[in-house]
Amino acid sequence: MVMASVIGLGKAGLPLAATIAESGIKVVGIDVDEEKCRMINQGMNPIPEEKGLDELIKKHGGKNLIATTDYWDAERCNLFIVIVPLFVDSLHNPDFSIMESAFRSVGRVIKEGDVVVLETTVPPLTTETIVRRWLEEESGLKLGQFYLAHSPERIMTGYSLSRLREFPKVIGGVDRKSGEMAYDLYKKFIPNLHLVSNARTAEFIKVIEGCYRDVNIALANELLKIAEEIGVDFYEARKYANHEYCHIHLPSTGVGGHCIPVYPWFLIKEMEKREKFEKARLLRTAREVNDEMIDYWIEKLVLECLKVDKPLSEVKICIRGITFREGVKETYHSRALAIVQRLREKGLNVGAFDEMFSPKELEEMGISPMKPEDADIVFDTFNLKFHTRA
Ligand SMILES: NC(=O)c1ccc[n+]([C@@H]2O[C@H](COP(=O)([O-])OP(=O)(O)OC[C@H]3O[C@@H](n4cnc5c(N)ncnc54)[C@H](O)[C@@H]3O)[C@@H](O)[C@H]2O)c1
Repeated sequence: MVMASVIGLGKAGLPLAATIAESGIKVVGIDVDEEKCRMINQGMNPIPEEKGLDELIKKHGGKNLIATTDYWDAERCNLFIVIVPLFVDSLHNPDFSIMESAFRSVGRVIKEGDVVVLETTVPPLTTETIVRRWLEEESGLKLGQFYLAHSPERIMTGYSLSRLREFPKVIGGVDRKSGEMAYDLYKKFIPNLHLVSNARTAEFIKVIEGCYRDVNIALANELLKIAEEIGVDFYEARKYANHEYCHIHLPSTGVGGHCIPVYPWFLIKEMEKREKFEKARLLRTAREVNDEMIDYWIEKLVLECLKVDKPLSEVKICIRGITFREGVKETYHSRALAIVQRLREKGLNVGAFDEMFSPKELEEMGISPMKPEDADIVFDTFNLKFHTRA
């Protein structure tokens, strides 16, 4: 009988745990957050923005899905899925400490024949090298006595359950047997599943999806600037340029969030480590182009300020939309926040407005709340529009 453990009950792990429970498999969810575990066991959904999750947690929480902080509660499981966060430092190097702690804890409870799958997005080769080592060191078992695979999470917060049901998901083992064992188990709850050659291919698939998006957003950002320089309406041009084989993305204030601005660095850093700098030149340039977009928008904002009949330092500037993506309450690497910060450093009178944050929450983040109707200039960071009261 299959019994699964999902380690990390966050925005990615909890929808997965609920999906597995819904398929009829018993799940032991492990998380370091005691309050989250308590809520889940009482049938309360800690991620209300996730469509359809309320019903599943109500149905399975505390029954088919038991949440706990104790890894030993998962002792009887034979499938262990790890989906804890991987942060990166200011030099873009991954910080594996959370993952190491989770895997070492898993290593202490696995038995012969168990299958372990990593879902967190990682630099290619991670599963077959350090993850394997952590598990072998803690369990005293060798690969072959347990099985290890990678299956990258491809959800999008808000649509995770439908993605798990419909979106193609890949899985690859660190050896052939691991891939086959993990595929057979995952097939019980993931309908659109594809077994790929190995774990490093599965890792690469997820990372290059992020690279594609980053490079193409950088292209759109660059074309926006060139169009403006030569007097062309970028949006009109894009509308007619795009067709089946041409998909120019939308420009932006840059790229934020935990994924797209992070994943290209996995490959850039790997090429640096191998002293093959030129092999990741485009990825690096795209990162620079996107990160520099805030300078472009700040210059435009300052020019807008000059249209207002007030000394520059008195012009009230409202940055509307501070999350990294519209509709997701997350500000990690938010370019809008970077704009607020830079304008403040320049001594300008800047505040922010975002439907997802109360004025108190903004203040707690060190940002002055400002209503759009009280501002002289509103910069809408999602639609890239200025509204100026001249
Ligand atoms: N959220 C997304 O849209 C998304 C999309 C694709 C991939 N992912 C992947 O999922 C990973 C996790 O992201 P998330 O959005 O679920 O993060 P999250 O912050 O929402 O959740 C992470 C959870 O892990 C728990 N945790 C931390 N350390 C732990 C430990 N040692 N043992 C057990 N639990 C621990 C935290 O308490 C938290 O509940 C990301 O790093 C990324 O690779 C996320």
